[in-house]
Amino acid sequence: MGSRILVLISGSGSNLQALLDASGADDYPGEVVAVISNKADAYGLTRAENAGVDAITLSHTSFDSREAYDQALIEKIDAYQPDLVVLAGFMRILTPGFVQHYSGKLLNIHPSLLPKYQGLNTHQRAIDAGDKEHGVSVHFVTEELDGGPVILQAKVPVFPGDEASDLASRVHEQEHRIYPLVVKWFCQQRLRMLNDQALLDNQVLPVSGYASDE
Ligand code: GAR
Repeated sequence: MGSRILVLISGSGSNLQALLDASGADDYPGEVVAVISNKADAYGLTRAENAGVDAITLSHTSFDSREAYDQALIEKIDAYQPDLVVLAGFMRILTPGFVQHYSGKLLNIHPSLLPKYQGLNTHQRAIDAGDKEHGVSVHFVTEELDGGPVILQAKVPVFPGDEASDLASRVHEQEHRIYPLVVKWFCQQRLRMLNDQALLDNQVLPVSGYASDE
């Protein structure tokens, strides 16, 4: 039995799908045990159901505070005793208490070459800045929003005349490659976080992640 992976989503869940597909292979070292969405209409919930995985909605609208929501979320998550919690388009700012509770076993994918473009609208911001390249980062989550240590990035070119949607789909292709790979490393116990740094096979990774050229 492989590592137990719990995925948090808010929307389409194409990254969830990539994880479901990858973990369906016999030799993948982990399995998705549940998917939780803060939005009832997230298509990712249907993807989970289609894969025979528990799909749960925990709407943030019925809670008075971020702390109360995150505490309820912790209870839902911990019922599944996951080894790893994967944020896959979960569009909420997490409380320090939540982040600390899962410290070292909480991963996020962010559609930029961090530390560039933390926050929202990353594709448009890259275009507006005249960047020639853009990309995606997988990182451990720390209390700093989009600021935890990077594990792996993938770059894509920005072409003249690109619109944000062009760039988003180019980035998505790379997301679907690198997220299942990083999750696999984690499940193989090759990856960990120590002193706010990411380590792969006991080697501290560069600030731009594995095999970065900077
Ligand atoms: C992905 O592009 C992911 O990088 C981004 O949301 C999208 C979710 O797509 N995440 C963030 O912006 C986090 N700040 P998906 O629902 O199709 O996987």
